[in-house]
Amino acid sequence: MLSAQSVPVVEATLPAVGASLGSITELFYRRMFEERPDLLRTLFNRANQASGAQREALAGAVAAFATTLVERPGERPDAVLGRIAHKHASLGITADQYTLVGRHLLGAVGEVLGDAVTPRVAAAWDEVYWLMANALIAMEARLYAGAGVEDGAVWRDMEIADRIEESVDAASFELRRPDGDPTEPFTPGQYVSVQVELPDGAKQIRQYSLSSAPGRKTWRVTVKRERSADGRAPEGEVSTWLHANARPGDLVKVSLPFGDLVLPEGDSPLLLASAGIGVTPMLSMLDHLVETAAGRHVTVLHADRSPAHHAHRLEMEELVGRLPNSALHVWYETPGEPLTPQVYEGRADVTRLTLHEGVSAFLCGPLPFMQGVRGDLLAQGVGPKDIHYEVFGPDLWLSK
Ligand SMILES: Cc1cc2nc3c(=O)[nH]c(=O)nc-3n(C[C@H](O)[C@H](O)[C@H](O)COP(=O)(O)OP(=O)(O)OC[C@H]3O[C@@H](n4cnc5c(N)ncnc54)[C@H](O)[C@@H]3O)c2cc1C
Ligand code: HEM
Repeated sequence: MLSAQSVPVVEATLPAVGASLGSITELFYRRMFEERPDLLRTLFNRANQASGAQREALAGAVAAFATTLVERPGERPDAVLGRIAHKHASLGITADQYTLVGRHLLGAVGEVLGDAVTPRVAAAWDEVYWLMANALIAMEARLYAGAGVEDGAVWRDMEIADRIEESVDAASFELRRPDGDPTEPFTPGQYVSVQVELPDGAKQIRQYSLSSAPGRKTWRVTVKRERSADGRAPEGEVSTWLHANARPGDLVKVSLPFGDLVLPEGDSPLLLASAGIGVTPMLSMLDHLVETAAGRHVTVLHADRSPAHHAHRLEMEELVGRLPNSALHVWYETPGEPLTPQVYEGRADVTRLTLHEGVSAFLCGPLPFMQGVRGDLLAQGVGPKDIHYEVFGPDLWLSK
């Protein structure tokens, strides 16, 4: 809870801080990486730094947190923080690192806003920072305890047991523990972080959703090779490296599973809507549903560029085929083959589907796809609380 003396100060300065958050977060990362260049090489995603996506996600989270604090000072707006805590846990972030981040973030606020940052203003924003930081530290401690590890001790060597080409640009990797023990449990929808050493010596980390059901001897991830979108931007560093180098028998550094987009137990109807490589968490959910909940109504929507781009296409058809109360609807921009009643041409259109009363929707794919589906679902009367989504990058919904 924000203290009574800080509420009016944060309220009065929120417009100025909010308007400068872009410059503040840019300066924050610059200053932090000047002091600790190793963090940019071994912990932070340098593509997200170069594109500005991580700055934007941080600014969006700080603005959403501070706004909620001044609007409802009695509450601690933890809802904004769940996704961040899971991401941090998958990276092994520890409480001591918050001091460094706080020093540079608050230093950047002072440097950008200059004289406007009086000692009273600095103290109020220090309080906002530590409310946020302590909430994250507490959530992350719970996640580490839940995983049965010391704070931050999430990294494991996993052996690639198998590699399968799943589409023109996606390959899956089965990962097993080198000691032969069963893989750790997870909930369908969760992801792991993978760290690889690139040719320049940088160790870069990316997240990959687990794409098969829990409780198996192996975890599976499916990685799309990220090509340059316009021929000028560089190719994706980690996915290109994995496609070029990762082979059965190799060891890779993988975190324990985390992630807050998870399949709810129970028998409520489900809509699983994915586009492109966003299919991965849905496959894990479907695989798990086949094992556990045969009677549940499940509507599956998938959009892709073409059948050749659709990773795990046959597997998806087979899994849906094994669920009695389920239906699969697929949209291809370029079908290149005769359409069937469940295969359509063009962009996905959820309004063509009959949704069951009380449906919970899970979305995964590019932001415009998810925003379109979400808008259509809201218009069809699905409640906002029943629409869940996973972004395969920094979550920029908060900053829009
Ligand atoms: C929770 C979660 C789950 C995920 N699950 C999956 C999954 O199951 N399968 C999967 O394939 N992916 C998944 N991802 C995405 C994955 O983590 C990576 O983001 C993806 O593989 C791309 O990483 P990369 O290193 O290959 O590309 P990066 O090197 O990170 O580059 C990403 C993009 O940024 C562009 N870029 C790089 N530098 C610049 C620059 N200077 N200016 C402008 N643009 C630039 C690149 O051209 C590229 O298009 C998931 C992400 C999250 C957060
Ligand atoms: C109150 C303090 C902090 C806030 C508000 C914060 C906020 C965020 C946000 C919003 C994201 C993006 C989440 C997403 O994927 O949508 C993120 C990711 C991340 N955070 Fe933090 N964070 C804080 C502290 C820290 C600390 C102490 C560290 C450790 C040095 C850290 C390291 C990272 C890393 C490495 C990522 C992933 C970056 C990427 O993939 O580009 N954060 N954080």
